Amino acid sequence: MKKILFINGSPRGNRSSSLGVAMYLSLFLNYDYEFINVNDSSNNNTVHLTPQADEAEPAFQSILEKIKTTDVIVWTFGVYLGYVPVKLQYLLDKLIAQQYYFKNKSAASIVTSINIFDNYALDKIRLVSENLGFSYVGEISAEANPQLGYLNEKNTETACQVLAKKINHAIEINFLPTPKYPDTYRRYISPVHFGNYFKLNKAKVEKRNNKSILVITGNKITKDAEALSIVEIVRNYSINKVELIEIEEYKISTCTGCLVCNSIIGHGCRFQKKDRFNEIIRKMEASDGIICIGHSSSGFVDVYLKTLMERAYGLFHRPFLNPKYGFVVITGGGIIGNDVACYVNDFFSRIGVKTIAHLGLDENNMTNIAETIHQYVNELDSAMAEKWEILPCYSHLALDAMLRNRIASLGMMLREDFLYYIQNKLFIFPNLIKTTFFFFLFTNNKIRNIIIKRRVKKVNQKRKARYKQIIQSGLVGKGKNLNAITGCPVKYN
Ligand SMILES: Cc1cc2nc3c(=O)[nH]c(=O)nc-3n(C[C@H](O)[C@H](O)[C@H](O)COP(=O)(O)O)c2cc1C
Repeated sequence: MKKILFINGSPRGNRSSSLGVAMYLSLFLNYDYEFINVNDSSNNNTVHLTPQADEAEPAFQSILEKIKTTDVIVWTFGVYLGYVPVKLQYLLDKLIAQQYYFKNKSAASIVTSINIFDNYALDKIRLVSENLGFSYVGEISAEANPQLGYLNEKNTETACQVLAKKINHAIEINFLPTPKYPDTYRRYISPVHFGNYFKLNKAKVEKRNNKSILVITGNKITKDAEALSIVEIVRNYSINKVELIEIEEYKISTCTGCLVCNSIIGHGCRFQKKDRFNEIIRKMEASDGIICIGHSSSGFVDVYLKTLMERAYGLFHRPFLNPKYGFVVITGGGIIGNDVACYVNDFFSRIGVKTIAHLGLDENNMTNIAETIHQYVNELDSAMAEKWEILPCYSHLALDAMLRNRIASLGMMLREDFLYYIQNKLFIFPNLIKTTFFFFLFTNNKIRNIIIKRRVKKVNQKRKARYKQIIQSGLVGKGKNLNAITGCPVKYN
């Protein structure tokens, strides 16, 4: 009996937007399907997934058994800081570290996001899927809404029908598409592949300046010889005071996706008082320089640094650390290290760290590595002392926004572009009067909830009506849901 398994990574449980989209898509499957959530302890009754990549705890084993008996996996998640929510990364890390390879199976992805780095997340999940042996049949990236599950209702639903068709077809004819990524990447996405120790043969320098540098690593440096080498070079050759934070030691809890940090002013992360997250943020604020050393894992950065980044989501949109200086190094990433370094660099730039360099260490190209890190340290010392100007370099989306701005202000000159953007309603400028009105209205929780409830009701009515038409036209799939999920944001019947 052929089967499809939706592996949902959202920590938002049944409020998950990506789950809502997956639930809709499942209606068009011709084969039986099942939903599991990596955050759910009911996968094995007792224990959750752990961050240790080489551990095969009961939660992992029960998910593994389900993967083994399935034909198509559908990774279902909201984009969390450019990749999967960290607990889904725990699962990917374990599958890679423990050398699983699945033959004759396929994978697809359903993601929801606000379309920032959704392409990056999709590309990385494809890289991991193919390196785990899955052939990749397709994907959907839907624009999310925390209450409604998804926006652009009709388009998203049509896209779901298309992906369901592809999944049905792949199972029907045993179709395994050509991979985009060869499995030579496996070593570099492994959370347990570490590079070699290196050092600089020069006399240590005196701590003669009064600035402070905070070095942040995800893993403990005793695990990662490259990270240890970098920390030693910073300690020995910076003329400033150096402090080290190994996030793994801080045992900070993972983001729950509650979005309080983003929607309530001055609240920060709801969990900041209960664990040591805030302590790390305070140390970052108190330092003059920040050096981030991450490790390449599952196509992204290690789970500890990823956890910190997710928890800092509410701070992510504003350069709250400005002005600080720093640099970013990713260890163990081989040919993809620089890609990961670019993303992490982007994150630190956005929160206000003027980064003088970012580098992914590639074991095949370590020429002058100790000297290069030494040079970064010297430059960081100078940048802090002389307040170097480092111009920001934004992602393509920021460039898009800038372009729209340009087109608007130069509308008379860029007439073609101006018209195109106006006609296709592509300007994202808010209506100032309307926005200000809602801003004040939404400070009252009661009014806010009434407005949201009304909108949800209206949209759900329209969705049900569309779904009714689909049932009448006989497009609904023959597959059965093997485990009932309740409380999903989107309801059709
Ligand atoms: C910690 C956190 C990080 C996020 N990072 C991104 C991001 O990098 N890009 C993006 O477009 N949306 C981002 N979002 C928005 C989510 O992708 C969006 O709300 C998604 O629908 C959540 O899916 P879920 O409800 O299934 O968890 C983030 C949300 C959270 C809570």
